[in-house]
Amino acid sequence: AGGDLLTLLQVDGELYPYNGDVEQANEIRASANAKARPDDIILCNYPKSGCHWMWEVIKMILQGSATTIPDFKENHMIELITANAMAVIPSPRVINTHMKFAQLPRDMIEKRCKIVLILRNPKDVAVSFYHHHIGLVNLYQYEGKWENYLSLFNNGKVDWGSFYDYVHSWEKTIHENPTHPIHVVYYEDMKADSAAEVRRLANFMGVSLSDDLIEAIAEKCSFQNMVKDKMGLEDEKWRKVWRDEKPRMYRKGEVGDWKNWFTVAQNEEFDRIYAERMANSKLKFRFTL
Ligand code: A3P
Repeated sequence: AGGDLLTLLQVDGELYPYNGDVEQANEIRASANAKARPDDIILCNYPKSGCHWMWEVIKMILQGSATTIPDFKENHMIELITANAMAVIPSPRVINTHMKFAQLPRDMIEKRCKIVLILRNPKDVAVSFYHHHIGLVNLYQYEGKWENYLSLFNNGKVDWGSFYDYVHSWEKTIHENPTHPIHVVYYEDMKADSAAEVRRLANFMGVSLSDDLIEAIAEKCSFQNMVKDKMGLEDEKWRKVWRDEKPRMYRKGEVGDWKNWFTVAQNEEFDRIYAERMANSKLKFRFTL
């Protein structure tokens, strides 16, 4: 306890939060053989990029109404549940994961399941991930300070590894698998015009919704509404694991909160690393709106 490094589990070169279960590594490996269904939606994102938000939106599009989903995305996450638990989830399933394309259950790729990839600018991701890490002190045994955190983030010494490796890997996947249905949505675009993004998403999913319903879903899934509607539900299961019993999955929900955390020097250093790591990328992240 009190460490400056996160306590993590390494399985086949990837880093995961360590849940203390001796079977964890075997279960992660076994998930590669999980069976897919053709109507599964696979929601992929680097941690803290808006998974709770998009999961709720996708579930509402599928159910065709803007009413709160009485379930949690954690119960549908490849890394958190066993292949047996996944097999009994009723269709249509919205499976979520921080895995890269090559690590997904092979059957999901063979059955050409629709993939939704969420991207978020890495400065806000770093701030959000920091709060996640210090909030789950029993899990990560981490009590580092913000001033030292960015080097962990930049060097990928965090669960699911480097942000940059993650986005490069997906960019390569999209390039190499032009016929696999992959829909990219940016957190910043969702903030800027949620209804437009909900419409784009529904089109990708092949679901036709009225303009009113699109607006209603965007509104029902706004940060303020999800704090009100989801957090109470979510608390039951997760409150106790969080420091001060305060879950961080609905923390601030803004674009640009990083400006309240980054010093000028940290920002310059980050920009330098970003320019270097993203030199060959076509992805365009927005750091402010
Ligand atoms: P912050 O820590 O910056 O507030 P994930 O769900 O992938 O773990 O991502 C969590 C981040 O998404 C947190 O970011 C959280 O506040 C934000 N978030 C959750 N619900 C949101 C919503 N409805 N609208 C905007 N942001 C949301």
